[in-house]
Amino acid sequence: MDGKVLVTNPVIEEGLSGLRQHFDVTVAHGLDPRQLRRAIVGVDGLLPLLTVAVDEELLVHADRLRVIANHAVGYDNIDLEAARRRGIWVTNTPGVLTEATADLTWAAMLALVRRVVEGDALVRSGGFTGWEPRMLLGIDLQRKTLGIVGLGQIGRAVARRAVGFGMRVIFTDPSCDAPVELGGVHCEPRDLEQLLGEADVVTLHAPLNADTHHLLDDRRLGMMRAGAYLVNTARGPLVDEAALTRRLRQGRPAGAALDVFEHEPAIAPGLAELPNVLLLPHIGSATRETRLAMTRLAADNIQAVLQGREPPTPVVRPDRPWPGSQ
Ligand code: GLV
Repeated sequence: MDGKVLVTNPVIEEGLSGLRQHFDVTVAHGLDPRQLRRAIVGVDGLLPLLTVAVDEELLVHADRLRVIANHAVGYDNIDLEAARRRGIWVTNTPGVLTEATADLTWAAMLALVRRVVEGDALVRSGGFTGWEPRMLLGIDLQRKTLGIVGLGQIGRAVARRAVGFGMRVIFTDPSCDAPVELGGVHCEPRDLEQLLGEADVVTLHAPLNADTHHLLDDRRLGMMRAGAYLVNTARGPLVDEAALTRRLRQGRPAGAALDVFEHEPAIAPGLAELPNVLLLPHIGSATRETRLAMTRLAADNIQAVLQGREPPTPVVRPDRPWPGSQ
């Protein structure tokens, strides 16, 4: 075997079959930080979940590590600078989860504005006693404005789907200030605060970093127009969740669909008691096909680096490349 690979948690096993042919692969069942610091000694390739902090404290124990292949498109769980300094590649899984995450975004948005989960609960509880014209009224999405915060791959896939629901699309993205055409959808740029004042549904698709932490703080949440909804399938800390909970209680925003939380898996006190929220357990990419593709891509990244090739989807190229790795 040409090296040791540590997978921090069970993943779709089939996705590891290629790696197992060449490397000694261990799949752990979740490790606390102390166990992980011990387990990383002698490991050449690490495949962590997005819930595993890969920080300086861990990396000082990584005596052989050459690649960290995150099992996620986001990589806010990894100290990129600490990896770079040590000559360790960092990779992620872009592309393969774009469509699944965009689908879940629309599923959450539709479920929220059409009160699908409340309807299910009503029927199950025996509360559906007959058709009633005023029961569980939601809003139409047709002719409303969708505000996309972050027009990366997932934001674009969300925008393309708007054609099916007849929504006008505006967006904000620091790297794009010109109109964009996406699958028949004309997307108009706005700055963030204009977008908040104009959109009927605001959906977040920005990466989490120092610039985007609490991008929607109390002040900006207060800029959302009356009756508007918020959808977050990106990262919880983009939103000040305590402020959001307070504002949702007052009905502005009118509602929120959250697949991610600021202190995941914990949720802000009071949030779960509110009737105008839809809460999901971070399942944006949770389809069989997508999770298998994510595992395969993370595995391919490890295999490439450990065999001296450029990984398919790098985030960090090491300052001090290992011999043969570039
Ligand atoms: C999921 O949240 C991901 O970053 O892939």
